[in-house]
This record gives sequence, structure tokens and C-alpha cells, in this order.
Amino acid sequence: MAMQLQRPHAAVVCLVLCYLTGGMTAPDPRQREALMELEASMQTGGRMLLTDAELRLDALLFKMKQQEVERADFPPAMHFFKARHLIRTSPIFQLLQKMPKGGALHVHDFSMVDVEWLVKNVTYRPHCYMCFTYNQSVRFIFSSQGPKPLPRCSPWILLENFRAKMINATELDNSIMGNLTLFTQQDPETVYPSQDAVWDRFEQAFLAVWGLVTYAPVFRDYYYQGLTEFYMDNIMYLEVRALLPETYELDGSTHDRTWTLKTYQEVTRQFTEDHPDFFGARIIFTVHRGINISAMTGVVEEAMKLHRDFPDIMAGFDLVGREDRGRPLWYFRDALSLPSERGVPLPFFFHAGETDLEGTEVDQNLLDALLLNTSRIGHGFALLRHPVARNISKKKEVAVEVCPISNQVLKLVNDIRNHPAAVLMSENHPVVISSDDPALFGASGLSYDFYEAFVGFGGLGSNIGSLKALVINSIRYSSLTPKQQEKVLALWQTSWNKFCNNSKNAF
Ligand SMILES: *[C@@H]1O[C@H](CO)[C@@H](O)[C@H](O)[C@H]1NC(C)=O
Ligand SMILES: *[C@@H]1O[C@H](CO)[C@@H](O)[C@H](O)[C@H]1NC(C)=O
Ligand SMILES: *[C@@H]1O[C@H](CO)[C@@H](O)[C@H](O)[C@H]1NC(C)=O
Ligand SMILES: *[C@@H]1O[C@H](CO)[C@@H](O)[C@H](O)[C@H]1NC(C)=O
Ligand SMILES: *[C@@H]1O[C@H](CO)[C@@H](O)[C@H](O)[C@H]1NC(C)=O
Ligand SMILES: *[C@@H]1O[C@H](CO)[C@@H](O)[C@H](O)[C@H]1NC(C)=O
Ligand SMILES: *[C@@H]1O[C@H](CO)[C@@H](O)[C@H](O)[C@H]1NC(C)=O
Ligand SMILES: *[C@@H]1O[C@H](CO)[C@@H](O)[C@H](O)[C@H]1NC(C)=O
Ligand SMILES: [Zn+2]
Repeated sequence: MAMQLQRPHAAVVCLVLCYLTGGMTAPDPRQREALMELEASMQTGGRMLLTDAELRLDALLFKMKQQEVERADFPPAMHFFKARHLIRTSPIFQLLQKMPKGGALHVHDFSMVDVEWLVKNVTYRPHCYMCFTYNQSVRFIFSSQGPKPLPRCSPWILLENFRAKMINATELDNSIMGNLTLFTQQDPETVYPSQDAVWDRFEQAFLAVWGLVTYAPVFRDYYYQGLTEFYMDNIMYLEVRALLPETYELDGSTHDRTWTLKTYQEVTRQFTEDHPDFFGARIIFTVHRGINISAMTGVVEEAMKLHRDFPDIMAGFDLVGREDRGRPLWYFRDALSLPSERGVPLPFFFHAGETDLEGTEVDQNLLDALLLNTSRIGHGFALLRHPVARNISKKKEVAVEVCPISNQVLKLVNDIRNHPAAVLMSENHPVVISSDDPALFGASGLSYDFYEAFVGFGGLGSNIGSLKALVINSIRYSSLTPKQQEKVLALWQTSWNKFCNNSKNAF
């Protein structure tokens, strides 16, 4: 029986080898070498020319990665919530933190800042009210006269008074923090047993943050703090997916969308002035995919107007919210075709293929995004199942924004080594690494996601060339003009050279 099974197997192996070696001899080691080199050269950064300093750093990285891979508790194989403390002490991670990472192209407006800042700074400001919802979440509002009651929420309590009556507010602060993020010290598989469960909490956390960050004075500080956290992680440019909500003042008066966009513009200008080695940020206006067609039409018209009036800060348009529950792009095709019909430019940056529901209507978002001429694809997790979409994306250089930790926390993949981007990187598909909602996932900046990409699905085969290519991609596939990209690249190259030079001494 065993012999019978082995014989056809041996025949297949011989067929392949004989074909490759052109004869009946044993495989030629030089040919093997050549094939391995060919494969290595096809990956992201595989053909990158490297300087001596980069090669020295690469040798160091390889040694570090070998040690990391041998660990029994290999972080990319674990849920990020359990792996985070291990990643923090990893020498590769510490190196990646120092690495100049270029741009972060897929980050959402209200998950840029560590929730500890929201609690310790924002909820300690005067006039901050909180209520407890009937399903154990919280809501906030700032108000001078005392806010109107919220349906299905306890009466408002003024946090200043509430805390003053406590001997120790740490526990309260921790419970507030727990409501603003998905991160938990408990077993994440138990707390979030399904995609529905984790998305429900995602939405609750989002609503809890809402009242804090849409208070106009906080809105300003939050964004400045967000830029600070990315800057500290050695990011020099951001593209922020932003809902551009109405913001409010203490007396209940409100500011419109234009105020919000102008504030992004002003704060970005201020931050860049304060940090000359930071290049800037642009906004991708987003709207929830749950709205109806007439509302979408109105929003697209508004987006065209904002893009015309604020061309420097406004990069384009996208839809947000869980794809599996929202409406597919095709449903909105008429509204989304308005810009091209009117000859008005409005670049799209669609989330698409953030799903494992193969074959559903939502699963068609990838092809539809490409049909609608999207400039990049957010997530593209399902891309491997769509060979035609994959081809178009490669040919037209529509880069895929890969957010590994987000995909793991939202339960599309368990072990990061099995992330589909492994395949995309093995064939130099245009990809960038991003962090989606770092604060909700207990991450910050880009370094954690770079770690998962480089050590997890990059494996031992990815190297300094891969990292360099990913960083250059984040500039090349940004919405910046070619001239601006040259400027960012030059700025980045200076700090990159310094990084490579210094790292050889640092470890
Ligand atoms: C809160 O943040 C603001 C703006 O970043 C800062 O000016 C202020 O000092 C902070 N306050 C506290 C209590 O940390
Ligand atoms: C929790 O309550 C809020 C309103 O207070 C509601 O919007 C939400 O759907 C509820 N979530 C669950 C999981 O019941
Ligand atoms: C407050 O409580 C926390 C946890 O409950 C504890 O770790 C901390 O030491 C306490 N602080 C003070 C000043 O008692
Ligand atoms: C949210 O806050 C409420 C009230 O403080 C608390 O009972 C609950 O445990 C918190 N939820 C999380 C996930 O921390
Ligand atoms: C679409 O949504 C808007 C805003 O929520 C609402 O005012 C309008 O009535 C809705 N239209 C239809 C046709 O449902
Ligand atoms: C997409 O681009 C093609 C070719 O440039 C053009 O014919 C088409 O109208 C565009 N469609 C949309 C929705 O922008
Ligand atoms: C994708 O492109 C390659 C090379 O251009 C081609 O050989 C292949 O048939 C294409 N596949 C699909 C599914 O379009
Ligand atoms: C890197 O080091 C080399 C040799 O030590 C030096 O010539 C070069 O100027 C350094 N480059 C930077 C950017 O520090
Ligand atoms: Zn996203």
C-alpha cells in the first residue's frame, strides 16, 4: 500500500526535477540557487540596491529575526492583545520604532490617540458629563448649563463632582479606558467570540469616544496629539480618513463641516511649523456606508465642493463602517459616478474586501472599487480570491493598504503568518502597511503593524530591502503630487541614512 502511494509521488517529483535539470541527473545545486534567487528577487524590495550600511543592518536584522522565530511564544502567532507586551521587549520592534517609516495612509480620525490621554487629559477637563448606557457602555458630553438627558442612558453625572467624592479614582478611570478601546487584559477569544461581538464593541467604543472628541476645543487638541503620537513613532506624513463631523461648544452651539476641515488644515500647519521634519497630513472625507442613496448623493456633492475649495488638505473620499453589514459600493454606483460624469476630480480611496464572506454582494466591492477608479484599496483582505481584481490592482498600481493587527482583532485571521499579504509581498504587489484604528486595538503609530508584517507574514525571507520598499511605497502611493513626493523622499532619505548608520552601533 505504502509503495503504491509513493510511486506516483516519486514520478511527479522526477517529472518536475527532470524538466528543470534537463536530464535524468540529480538536481543541480547551482540551479537550485538560481531559482531561490529568482523567487527572492520577485518579492517586495527584492531588487532594491542596498548600501553598505543597509547591508550591515540587514545582517543584524536577520540574526534578530532568527532568534525571534525560535521562540515558543512567537508573537505573530498570538492574538495581538496577548502578544503586545512581548512585542514591546523585542529588539526588532525597538529598531522598527526608530526606523523612519514614511507615511501612514490608512488611519481613522478618532482612533489616533492612546485612550489614556482621553481619560487622563480630556475627561479631567471642567464641564465633562458622563452617563452609563443600559448595556454597560458610557457616553460623554461637555456642557455649561447641564445637558439634556440621553435615551437609554442613566442621568448625566458631572465627572468633576463624581471624582471629588472618591478616595481613589483609578478604578473609575480604568473602567472608562476599558470602554474606549477593544484592548483587554482578559482572554480576547472569550471576550470577543465572534465577528459580530467584536464589531458591536467596536461601535460602542466609537460612540463612547464621540462626545469627547467632537467637543471643539478637544477636537483641536486630539488631532494635534494624534499627529504627535505618529511623529514620535517616526512617521512623517499622514492620510486621515475623517468623518468631518459637526463639532460643539459648551453652550451647545455647533460648527459645520467646513469648520472641521479648516481646523484640520490649521492644526496640520501648526504642527508642521513646530516640527519641521514632519511633512504634513491630508484628509480623506468618509461617510458611513449605512446611509441611503439620496443622502449619499448629497454627501458626494459636498465632497466635490470641499475638494475644490480645500485642494491642499482634502485628498478624496471613502465609505466606512463594517462592510459585511453596510451597503456594497455597487448600490451607490450612481452617486459615486457623479464626479466622473461632471468631469470634477474626486479621488476615491475605498475600503474594499475587508471580509471573508466569499461570493456575497459585499465581496464584489473589490472589483467595484476598481471599476470606480479607486486610487488605493483599504484592506483588500479578500484580494487573493479575486484574480482579475488582483491583476488590475497590480497593473494600475492601485496599492493595497494592509492593516495586519486590525484584521486579526476583527477576526479575519488568527495567526499573522497566514495573512494573505504574505502572497502579495512575495510577488511585489503594490502594498503599504498601516494601522487603521491603533487606539482601539491598543497599538499606536505604525511600528506594531510593521512588526507583524516584517516578522509575521514577511517571515525570514523579508529583509531590509522589503522594509525600505514598504516605506518608499507609502510615499509613492500617497495622494501627494509627484513634486511633493520628491520632497518627502528627500526628507526621508536623510533620516533613513542616519538610522542605518546609527543602528549598527545601537545593538
Ligand atoms: C491636556 O492636553 C493639552 C493639550 O495637549 C495640554 O495643554 C494640557 O496641559 C493637558 N492637560 C493635562 C492635565 O495633562
Ligand atoms: C447598546 O445601547 C445602545 C444605546 O444606548 C444601542 O445603540 C446599542 O445598539 C446597544 N448595543 C447592544 C449590543 O445591545
Ligand atoms: C488606587 O487604586 C489602584 C487600583 O485600585 C491602586 O493600584 C493604587 O495604588 C491606588 N492609589 C492610591 C493613591 O491609593
Ligand atoms: C465600561 O464602564 C462601565 C461603567 O463604569 C463598567 O461597568 C464596564 O465594565 C466598562 N466596560 C469595559 C469593557 O471596561
Ligand atoms: C434618507 O436619509 C435621510 C437622512 O437620514 C432622510 O432624511 C431621508 O428621508 C431618507 N430618504 C429615504 C428615501 O429614505
Ligand atoms: C473610470 O476611468 C475610466 C477610464 O479613465 C472612465 O472611462 C470612467 O468613466 C471612470 N469611472 C468613474 C466612475 O470614475
Ligand atoms: C493576470 O495577468 C497575467 C499576466 O499579465 C496573465 O497571465 C493572467 O492570465 C491574468 N489572470 C487573470 C485572472 O486575469
Ligand atoms: C554614515 O557613516 C559614514 C561613514 O561612517 C559617513 O561617511 C556618512 O556621512 C554617514 N551618513 C550619515 C547620514 O550620517
Ligand atoms: Zn479602515
